[in-house]
Amino acid sequence: MENRCRTKARLLFFTLMMLSSVRTSVSDGISIYWGQNGNEGNLTSTCATGRYGFINIAFLYIFGNGQIPQINLAGHCNPSSGGCAVVSKGIRDCQNRGIKVMLSIGGGVGNYSLSSTSDAKNVADYLWNNFLGGSSSSRPLGDAVLDGIDFDIEAGSTQYWDDLARYLSEYSNQGKKIYLTAAPQCPYPDSHLGRALNTGLFDYVWVQFYNNPPCQYSSGSVDNLLSSWKQWTSSVPATKLFLGLPAASNAAGSGYVPVNVLNSQILPVIETSSKYGGVMLWNRYYDYKSGYSSSIKSSSTLHLLRYIRCDFELKNTIFLRLLAFVMLW
Ligand SMILES: *[C@@H]1O[C@H](CO)[C@@H](O)[C@H](O)[C@H]1NC(C)=O
Ligand SMILES: *[C@@H]1O[C@H](CO)[C@@H](O)[C@H](O)[C@H]1NC(C)=O
Repeated sequence: MENRCRTKARLLFFTLMMLSSVRTSVSDGISIYWGQNGNEGNLTSTCATGRYGFINIAFLYIFGNGQIPQINLAGHCNPSSGGCAVVSKGIRDCQNRGIKVMLSIGGGVGNYSLSSTSDAKNVADYLWNNFLGGSSSSRPLGDAVLDGIDFDIEAGSTQYWDDLARYLSEYSNQGKKIYLTAAPQCPYPDSHLGRALNTGLFDYVWVQFYNNPPCQYSSGSVDNLLSSWKQWTSSVPATKLFLGLPAASNAAGSGYVPVNVLNSQILPVIETSSKYGGVMLWNRYYDYKSGYSSSIKSSSTLHLLRYIRCDFELKNTIFLRLLAFVMLW
């Protein structure tokens, strides 16, 4: 009798442990853009939701070609008077939760372009000194050190982005790894980022499967999206690929995927790819309104197992949980 209870209790414990691990892996796998709407909540409250593993601060929208770089964080703060340095606290709060925080450069509106290899070098140095581990008297987001740079390049030159990636990654030699991420559009190859992505230097690539009817969810069919996903996963030498989606039907011109379609027809297919990293959402404001991210379901332990195999940090967490479990027993 006692044995049976022990077995049941053991099963219960094990199930709870698995469930908590799976939940962790889901939020670890959601990347969100923050910074383009003053009514989306600050970084501290965004990260406290526990829904996200990656935050892309959007955007550094003017840079390159000898221009003085400028950030724009909509209603959050006024960068002209150094008013965005207050964001540092939120960045640190997010990082203390294990969330990676990137600066996203580019965006749909802006004035950015690289005119030469040496221009790329200047921009890399600027980013290092003002947002990463270097130093400058005018760091726009204060003294917090970001985890990396996100390339959301949708305009300007089609050249030298690979040089920028190389120069930035060289700074990883100074100690802390600099993550490189990118948000190409789904038509393959991306006209601006194709060459940069081929360097193999990018850790996480969140492909925008929206505003591009030939490769997105449209007319109730997942076919175009799934065949485009297949092309990306078989062609791009990035560590992980993310499915980029609008967080609400009005968050993009087209390509919104109802969350039940995502959970039942898309995730079960793309999660089987070893390159699957998670879902990227545009953007925090719409997710805050719609709750889209909280309805995303990771279908499987397959997902969990993949993290155990590939994500060192999470592997340690799970190892520690197992250890605590065994010791408590
Ligand atoms: C962030 O927002 C929360 C909730 O509105 C608020 O309580 C908090 O003071 C804000 N933090 C900062 C640093 O502005
Ligand atoms: C972008 O910047 C360049 C160089 O500073 C300038 O000539 C051009 O007019 C700007 N374009 C826009 C759309 O602001």
